[in-house]
Amino acid sequence: MWFELFLETRSYTDQEAAFIERNLPNPPYKKVLDLCCGEGRHTNYLSQKGYEMVGVDIDEEALAIAARNSSVSTKYINKDMRALKEIAGQFDGIISLWQSFGYFDENTNQEIIRQISNKLSERGRFILDVYNRDYWMVNQGERQFEKKTIAIRSENRMIGKRLRSSLTYGNGLGSDVFEWRLYTQEELSALGERFNLRLLLACTEYNEKTPISAGKPMMQMVFEKSSAPS
Ligand SMILES: C[S@@+](CC[C@H](N)C(=O)[O-])C[C@H]1O[C@@H](n2cnc3c(N)ncnc32)[C@H](O)[C@@H]1O
Repeated sequence: MWFELFLETRSYTDQEAAFIERNLPNPPYKKVLDLCCGEGRHTNYLSQKGYEMVGVDIDEEALAIAARNSSVSTKYINKDMRALKEIAGQFDGIISLWQSFGYFDENTNQEIIRQISNKLSERGRFILDVYNRDYWMVNQGERQFEKKTIAIRSENRMIGKRLRSSLTYGNGLGSDVFEWRLYTQEELSALGERFNLRLLLACTEYNEKTPISAGKPMMQMVFEKSSAPS
């Protein structure tokens, strides 16, 4: 239900992809892996712009839609992000967009960052778009709204550093529950440093000039690989 109701109503792809193009200019950044690519909205867009794209996701149905919408030869791989190291080759860029990081425990999330770093070529870049914990700390609670005529009740609760987000759909359509470890800019910057990823840029609204703030739910961070894999 989540894909059906939320993904299609998200119309920011052009702005987000333009940010990727500015921060991963091709050349020299040509080979890019879209980690947790979902239905491939960025993967296919960037592919059409001349990038050599590989999209990775655990959801087979989403990948089938991504492949169907792809007009050029984009490679899609069905894989759990924890097994990123099994994907062949090195990449000039890796992107992880729309809160697709933090699903696991502390060590596993760190291991994913390590694998991302190891998959990047020297000076390769990693672009991360995630929730800002500072925002969610003060924006918890319940909300009722409608999408595509379906009534939705959402509840967002922080449990320690983790956000539990549940969505209950009207018309007997069931529910979805998501949970992530949320980070602050400082925490992610320190995590990147541990694995040779140096923070180049941090902003919000996919606008390099807009600083991260507790008033905005998302943040974008651009890291650069600074030395040999760990
Ligand atoms: C919020 S969606 C974002 C999709 C896409 N990046 C976008 O912006 O449209 C999160 C994606 O992460 C994928 N995902 C969740 N857990 C995963 C895992 N362990 N390994 C790979 N993909 C995963 C989901 O299937 C979903 O497509």
